[in-house]
Amino acid sequence: ALMSMRQLLDHAAENGYGVPAFNVNNLEQVRAIMEAANEVNSPVILQASAGARKYAGSNFLRHLILAAIEEFPHIPIVMHQDHGVTPAVCQRSIQLGFSSVMMDGSLGPDGKTPTDYEYNVDVTRTVVQMAHACGVSVEGEIGCLGSLETGMAGEEDGIGAEGKLSHDQMLTSPEEAESFVNDTGVDALAIAVGTSHGAYKFTRPPTGDILAVSRIKEIHKRIPNTHLVMHGSSSVPQEWLAIINEFGGEIPETYGVPVEEIQEGIKHGVRKVNIDTDLRLASTGAVRKFLAENKSEFDPRKFLIPTTQAMKGIVKDRLEAFGTAGQA
Ligand code: G3H
Ligand code: 13P
Ligand code: NA
Ligand code: ZN
Repeated sequence: ALMSMRQLLDHAAENGYGVPAFNVNNLEQVRAIMEAANEVNSPVILQASAGARKYAGSNFLRHLILAAIEEFPHIPIVMHQDHGVTPAVCQRSIQLGFSSVMMDGSLGPDGKTPTDYEYNVDVTRTVVQMAHACGVSVEGEIGCLGSLETGMAGEEDGIGAEGKLSHDQMLTSPEEAESFVNDTGVDALAIAVGTSHGAYKFTRPPTGDILAVSRIKEIHKRIPNTHLVMHGSSSVPQEWLAIINEFGGEIPETYGVPVEEIQEGIKHGVRKVNIDTDLRLASTGAVRKFLAENKSEFDPRKFLIPTTQAMKGIVKDRLEAFGTAGQA
């Protein structure tokens, strides 16, 4: 059944678990996520990015998610719009039937330029008024995602800032987080703690200086009733990187957010965990391996089946690790 983000994250907070929010662009991703959620009896968040809307089209995405709701009526599903860059984008998603939207006012309408606090409050509050009138939840963001190692935002997803971000911009201030929640009334708050979008998050396994889990704890202490959101939370599985590179890929050494660090976040108020890259890596690894080992196959369903299985494996692992399994 379709559910609002607020309902689901309130349940997650009461029961001390986190919910992965997976980005969806096509049938195989939706099926992989739903089959995994069904097998372990988990609620789930399906989210559509601007890139997904451009790739599949809003109507196709909407109907894919509606099909999931129909086929798995016993699974709570949040239909979420990821990274809206303006109130108009969010308004359109509300009209389409999304049960939750993200107004990312930490960046301007170009999705790249960091904004000031007043702008962020202004656009986010506008969306909260609009969304709440329709029973739709709102996620806001304070602070900019970016690498504490390099000062760069993620590259491959088009959300990267033009220039470098300062250390302060990339670590959400607990004071600002508190006033932002009071000034806007958001249902969930995305915070910046050193993660970035895409596969190239860290050049080495992250330690506290580049992945600030301690900052999550400080923010949670200050606003214990706010549901926190971690973007850029792919773990970048080394085993999938190895498979991609074994079968013709060329992905340089890189590290993601370890699952144990996310679990630590979940103990301290993180309720929504955004994952896109891990499903992309598993999917690509499975396709490369299948086609390398089955050189005469040309029916796409042949490689789309192992790709779906690979994504399903990641989804199940995360649902189990975050305590989402068994909560449907
Ligand atoms: O927000 C970032 C997500 O990974 C979606 O990226 O715009 O390439 O679909 P995308
Ligand atoms: P990853 O690139 O780490 O999967 O993050 C996805 C995300 O934050 C989508 O909003
Ligand atoms: Na989002
Ligand atoms: Zn994100």
